[in-house]
Amino acid sequence: MGICFDEKEKIFCLDTPHSSYRIGITDEEGFITHLYYGRRVPDSNVKQLLWRGFEHPAVYGKTGDQLQYVTRIPLEYPTGGLGDFRMPCLAIETESGSRTSQLYYRTHRICSGKPKLCGLPATFGTEQDCSTLEIECVDTSLQLTVILSYSVFEGLDAIARSVRIENNGTQRIRLTSALSACLDMPNKNSDLLTLHGSWAYERMQCRRPLTWGKQGIGSRYGVSSHEENPFIALMDHTATQTQGEVYAMNFVYSGNFLAEAEMSQQEQLRLVMGIHPDGFCWTLDSCEVFQTPETILVYSCSGLSGMTHTFHDLYRKHLIRGAFKDRPRPSLINNWEATYFDFDTEKLLSIAKTAAKSGIELFVLDDGWFGKRDDDTTSLGDWTVNETKLPGGLKRLSDEIHALGMKFGIWLEPEMVSPDSDLYRAHPDYALQNPEREPILSRTQLVLDLSRKDVRECVYAMIHAVLSSAKIEYVKWDMNRPLANVQSAALPSDRQGEVYHRYMLGVYELQERMLTDFPDLLLENCSSGGRRFDPGMLYYSPQIWTSDNTEAIDRLKIQEGTALVYPLSSMGAHVAACPSHTNSRVTPFATRGLVSLCGCFGYELDLTKLTDAEIGEIPGQLEAYHTYGDIFRTGDYYRLASFSENGEYDVLSAVSKNKRTAVIVYVQVLSQQKRAVPVIYPQGLDETTMYRCTESGEILSGAGWMYAGIPLPVMKGDYLGKLIVLEAMEDQK
Ligand code: DGJ
Repeated sequence: MGICFDEKEKIFCLDTPHSSYRIGITDEEGFITHLYYGRRVPDSNVKQLLWRGFEHPAVYGKTGDQLQYVTRIPLEYPTGGLGDFRMPCLAIETESGSRTSQLYYRTHRICSGKPKLCGLPATFGTEQDCSTLEIECVDTSLQLTVILSYSVFEGLDAIARSVRIENNGTQRIRLTSALSACLDMPNKNSDLLTLHGSWAYERMQCRRPLTWGKQGIGSRYGVSSHEENPFIALMDHTATQTQGEVYAMNFVYSGNFLAEAEMSQQEQLRLVMGIHPDGFCWTLDSCEVFQTPETILVYSCSGLSGMTHTFHDLYRKHLIRGAFKDRPRPSLINNWEATYFDFDTEKLLSIAKTAAKSGIELFVLDDGWFGKRDDDTTSLGDWTVNETKLPGGLKRLSDEIHALGMKFGIWLEPEMVSPDSDLYRAHPDYALQNPEREPILSRTQLVLDLSRKDVRECVYAMIHAVLSSAKIEYVKWDMNRPLANVQSAALPSDRQGEVYHRYMLGVYELQERMLTDFPDLLLENCSSGGRRFDPGMLYYSPQIWTSDNTEAIDRLKIQEGTALVYPLSSMGAHVAACPSHTNSRVTPFATRGLVSLCGCFGYELDLTKLTDAEIGEIPGQLEAYHTYGDIFRTGDYYRLASFSENGEYDVLSAVSKNKRTAVIVYVQVLSQQKRAVPVIYPQGLDETTMYRCTESGEILSGAGWMYAGIPLPVMKGDYLGKLIVLEAMEDQK
């Protein structure tokens, strides 16, 4: 399915519903070349594209100017040092100091299904809905085997790529760069789109014209970061939400990354993605293997919307796993913004009782329940209950919460240690740090060296003990500082370049183990808000805390950027207190509810301090979540108007896959007295089905709603919202 090899032309053809990808093998040398990626074409023989307008060079090795050739040829996995002056994907160093490598085709395999990537998060598929091509290349002088892997999925315009590198020689080889994917393409005068941000302002869309030289993004934080998300797209300069070509890459990884575009002097465009080479150096002894993380390629010829739909469908079907993959997530109440560290059983139960009465399903106990943690300066690593705050421990609290008819969840930050903790006093070497320097603190904490097996064992024993101590159905796994002064006491000096990646493998191993032992647990990843909102984390947790900015209007932009790539069902979204703890803005309770409805719905405020009117709104908000939550979780998302762009109002919709219901969320950020009422044009309806609008009661065909549009309801005031539902009429199609 979707992959074949044209023996005569020596061309691999990967086809998805709307895209084609062509890979060639040069006759003379056996280089693996990139021939074409774009709108679907029936042809396999696209070899003429190899030369892209410049004169066909003489055969490599038989000409006086080999460099003319290697610096232009579009490659699938470029290597360094032999005259391709663009960014390489593979860079090595041998014991003798050589830094050159070159790959030649050896063999290939096409199979149904998709092999697992050992120790790494990755997309998955069955033999029925996915197939994989593995091209085996070799550097004969190094005896290095490099296997390029490509998987396609039924019905999706996506290709998953990764690389396996095997040292089959006798000498040690150091990988100084091992990226996951490369796209060598002609320059189409594209724009570059990335998701830039900062704490409490994550994933803002940043679009700019592509120009000469290198431009891109990356993270050296040891986590995917607030600053840049591991996503990059090239799009037509004129592309919009609904039209134009988009080529996107997203990295299934949660650590350091690089995503870079380079336009060379010959106007060849190279787009690469992988683990950031800075701080990376991996030693491959004889017979050892290095597996890169996976990069997802998505092609859309229907603008950003097409790209978004592919990412959402791919991640919902082929990345998110576990008990909650296809299940509604419980509405929750989290005590963080209600109490911060200042709570006791009585206070928590008073919030929980109000929550239970209103119909909220899950109570989450956030930071501050363990050790002697009354602020953020202490106790990480000492995961024993603070009995002064919670007499009877988690068990008693969990029992009381369950007696109210709610589920119970807790916050953990297992990757960290406070210098003021018993764990650190006993094992200072468990923290990542250079012992010759002063420890570098952030939020008064250090990062545990999860590259070490003994540290992972110790951490896992604590996680296991906590989760076994009471009935705990949900974990919020937090991570509140980036990595710095990175050095492991357990690795020799020449292997310190492995620590960042080994750390990530350690985090993944811990989460995998926890989910294996507690398969019904609902895991929500979090990192100082949305610092680790990436596909790597989605493999373990179906939902991720989107941002510490819980203010509804700022959230419009944050959720818009996040939903460009990640399913709505993955975004933790809570109704928070007013004035907002992040920016002091005052917004109506109803609007906060509406904005949170678009994600994993919850509350994060002291319910006992709400007015009766606000408390009275909660059952209605929960009813909306239960009625329409499945459509947000499983349906198609459309961006109908963007507050980021127009500065006035925001409209999005989710349409059920069977096209029977469209839920439209409209937020009027600033009311405008003088201008005409904006009209929005819903998308994704069935043209001939009749739909009734719950807001106006009017009935129109899908075509009528989509092409004639809906004038937005007039509302007097700022920060107001409306839920508009178009419901298909029974038997009127
Ligand atoms: C950062 C998270 O993003 C918050 O939601 C909260 O859990 C705090 N950490 C607790 O320290």
